[in-house]
Amino acid sequence: MNVAPSARLSSLLVALLTAVMTASCVSIIPSLVPHVDAEKDIKTQFPFRSKFVDVLASKMHYVDVGKGAPIVLLHGNPTSSYLWRNVIPHLAKTNRVIAVDLIGMGKSGKPDIPYRFDDHMRYFDAFMDAMRLKDVTFVLHDWGGAIGFDHAMRHPENTRAVAFMEALIHPIAWDEMSWPEAHLFRTMRSKDGDTLLMDENYFVEKLVPAFAGRPLGYEEMYAYRAPFKKVAHRKPVRLFPQEVPFDDKKPADNYKRMMATYNKIKTSKVPLLLLTADPGAIIKPEVAARFKKDMPRLKVQAVGAGIHYIQETQPTAIGKALVKWIGALPAWKGAVVAP
Ligand code: BEZ
Repeated sequence: MNVAPSARLSSLLVALLTAVMTASCVSIIPSLVPHVDAEKDIKTQFPFRSKFVDVLASKMHYVDVGKGAPIVLLHGNPTSSYLWRNVIPHLAKTNRVIAVDLIGMGKSGKPDIPYRFDDHMRYFDAFMDAMRLKDVTFVLHDWGGAIGFDHAMRHPENTRAVAFMEALIHPIAWDEMSWPEAHLFRTMRSKDGDTLLMDENYFVEKLVPAFAGRPLGYEEMYAYRAPFKKVAHRKPVRLFPQEVPFDDKKPADNYKRMMATYNKIKTSKVPLLLLTADPGAIIKPEVAARFKKDMPRLKVQAVGAGIHYIQETQPTAIGKALVKWIGALPAWKGAVVAP
């Protein structure tokens, strides 16, 4: 078919304009996120000894500090156990604290796997099997929410309690997002996500500092960048936004899996705590209110100003709220009782 030169030119122009608009809109989004008041004395160092455990022909990195009833801290995209560095010392005064890096993230192994939700589940389940922890309290953030709750709701007999903050635990509704948020997600889930998240490392370079709610320093950015220096290692970061189930039921398998877990949470007897931040990002007040309605046992506590990576603005408030709540839980069932 012959296409007139003018028609070819205008379709080229439209394609070019669309590409420029997509790229420029997405590059503006981080600058729309406000800074909030952060606690003073937030430390940049990660002073904990690294440990590794063999899982499914790879290894997972974790830190293990303190003694007593175990608390497992689980991060999300694209962070690591480093996110919890200022929360851990509060919890380790009274408990054993295990902060693990998801497979492909932090200092964990980087096997050549698809990095779908199901892959993370297989590795996290294997990690929990290897650690043989008893009557565990989980503290979950971001994708750690989906992964940790999925595990906990399949192992209620070994779950003492679950706390979560800015966590993905329910499919997201497209029409509850602002236009920039929806645009960002659509772009990250599209083919353009390859350039943005793999080549440009946009999630680490732009979204983490913006959604931390305060400027991150060199050492902090160095720690968040370290696992993803090589483009090939950014695969988990690239996959996570595509794996988020939305209310159009895509991806279908993740939608089904997350809804099944959410329905179990609603009727679960496990004590639940939601820590909220102001203004928050994925758990805004209306979402928290819906969770509270769906889960009669849920306690909700505000910890102060924060966007999404709220451990970067309110680590002491988070630590203290958790210590208080854990201190009031029914007795830990894992204690060795003298005969
Ligand atoms: C993501 O990694 O794309 C993501 C994480 C948490 C909530 C929503 C999206």
